Amino acid sequence: MPLQFYIETLGCQMNVLDSELACSALLRMGMVPNDAPNDADVVLFNTCSVRQHAEEKVYSALGRLKNWKEENPQRILGVLGCMAQKDQKQVFRRAPHVDFVLGPGRLDVLIETIERLLNATPRPAKTICTSLHRATNSLADVLESFRLYNPERTVASGQTEEPALVRITFGCDQCCSYCVVPFVRGPEQSRSPQDIADEVQHLADQGISTFTLIGQAVNSYRYQEGEHQFRLADLLYRLSDIGGVEQMDFVTNYPLYMTDDLLQAVRDLPKVLKHFHVPAQSGSDSILKRMNRHYTAGQYREMADRIYGMIPGATMTSDFIVGFCSETDEDFEQTVDLVKHCRFRNSFIFKYSERAGTKAAELYADDVPEEVKKYRNNRLLEVQIEISRQLSAKKEADSCPLTR
Ligand code: 5AD
Repeated sequence: MPLQFYIETLGCQMNVLDSELACSALLRMGMVPNDAPNDADVVLFNTCSVRQHAEEKVYSALGRLKNWKEENPQRILGVLGCMAQKDQKQVFRRAPHVDFVLGPGRLDVLIETIERLLNATPRPAKTICTSLHRATNSLADVLESFRLYNPERTVASGQTEEPALVRITFGCDQCCSYCVVPFVRGPEQSRSPQDIADEVQHLADQGISTFTLIGQAVNSYRYQEGEHQFRLADLLYRLSDIGGVEQMDFVTNYPLYMTDDLLQAVRDLPKVLKHFHVPAQSGSDSILKRMNRHYTAGQYREMADRIYGMIPGATMTSDFIVGFCSETDEDFEQTVDLVKHCRFRNSFIFKYSERAGTKAAELYADDVPEEVKKYRNNRLLEVQIEISRQLSAKKEADSCPLTR
């Protein structure tokens, strides 16, 4: 009987992709997937640590597997992803039945870790495979410890309808004061255009036609080839030429890198979706400054106006954090104004969650009461829902031959 595995994924598309890669590796090892954790021999949680809530969900789910592990201690329970990198040993303290934690920069050793645990009797002690902390090690050592994991991918039958996620950058160098990602995913590293093109070609050869290029700040992509610095716009041109590629988009964008060359490429390349996800986070200059975002609300507005001006029919979506440290009603109203001005197709709204180890946690008090965060979250959502409704009504009217 082949061993069965269950993998649960929380968080962003980076994690979705990592789980897909882990899943292919486990299949290659001869294991088979099972939808129910209780029936599996190996259970993996691919975790997110962007907000406290995401971590609590994992700890509760781990708690529910205590009996499963006690029933058969040979079963394997692993924690992957950002929480593994952030909490490390702490995971074992809160969930002593976990066998191993493995950070997002160490997926390269996932299979050997599981094999070692399966084959060893008695079971080896708890295993931790994580990358180095960037605050206390040299950049070269830290980079070396966040391994770029890009194994060859085989597309499962029936999966060709889904867009394939293709990573173009790893890690993040934006130092947003609230965010844990630069610590848990390490310094930004861009993959070579050749590597990316080869992967896209390989997937296109297997019948995939739609691609989403992903990176934490995807539009800061840069790769030096001799004299030439390859940017995201260059990459879009190059990938557009690959036979079998029909549609592409890219997430997530950092507002300051929304350069004209990128917008021109999106405008001129028929295969690239005219849509941009560009998190604004706040519409208040003083909050943006505390968030260390390096732009003002006015600059963000200009960028949105530039997108709409240059690309007919372009749409935008955004992320916002409400209730960030010291956010006043007036700051919040400026965020509402920004949403109204930019007319996003959708916004993802989050209540600020303090993350240990970040600058914001160190420098500022998490002083907006929970009820106020909730109220602002709901109010911004209402404003956004009304805009989304108007935009979709307009889209419908525009496409209706009677009203056109
Ligand atoms: N608290 C709340 N939301 C956060 N995000 C990132 N860090 C935090 C935090 N500490 C949000 C941002 C980001 C999205 C992926 O998650 O809006 O764009």
